[in-house]
Amino acid sequence: MPEPALGLDVVASLPEAAEALLDGRNVVVIDVLRATTVIGQALAAGAARILPAATPAEARELAAGLEPGSFLLGGERGGYRIPGFDLGNSPLEYTPERVKGKSIVLASTNGSVLLARCRRSRRTLALSFNNLSAVAARVRDAGGSWVAVCSGKLGRACLEDLVCAGRLGARLGLAGEEGPADSLDDARDGLTIARLLDERLGGDLAEMLRRCAHGRYLESIGFGPDLERCAQLDILAGVPEMAGGAILPG
Ligand code: MLT
Repeated sequence: MPEPALGLDVVASLPEAAEALLDGRNVVVIDVLRATTVIGQALAAGAARILPAATPAEARELAAGLEPGSFLLGGERGGYRIPGFDLGNSPLEYTPERVKGKSIVLASTNGSVLLARCRRSRRTLALSFNNLSAVAARVRDAGGSWVAVCSGKLGRACLEDLVCAGRLGARLGLAGEEGPADSLDDARDGLTIARLLDERLGGDLAEMLRRCAHGRYLESIGFGPDLERCAQLDILAGVPEMAGGAILPG
């Protein structure tokens, strides 16, 4: 069967992303603040792979099966490094000196939970502003039907992930209104909403990240410099992609 024409659905938050929606699908996972930004940075800095875990306990279990010295535990709760973990969830920590050649077992509150849920997806790519053009090119080359899933924040939609999804739609030349809407199931507004948010608020990405709720929280606990890093557009050429439960550089 030929691939359907390029299409992008946008799902606004984690609870909407039931496994039934992800299984067998082409998925782009977005967690601008900060999990998918961290993943792009860690792999660009030479990490061998990222193993996403839904909880810190699951991360420790995954790590127990790995060769000692071959991995680092990374992630956060409440934005802070998890006690006993090697790294937190700031992209600035994932330097070549720390991560080169290592597997990173990552447990974050929202992004890694969503990634762990994508183990049966057909393809899973990790998107942030840092690698937006590279991901858009990969999606355009593959064609077919894609769903961009925003990790959101504690079960709710968040501004920064929707703006990023909207920017992906813009790069793909998709407005959100071109799909069929002749069945109840096909009538979806996610991409239209995301495009409108990007048009309205995406002009200054650093300002948008300082303004959104999670950005204000991160700034309040001392991670202001992360916002500047997460706002940088197209500084990375890699497209992290899931294969066999691990996210590999691509
Ligand atoms: C998450 O996955 O929940 C986020 O990356 C949280 C954070 O900013 O550390």
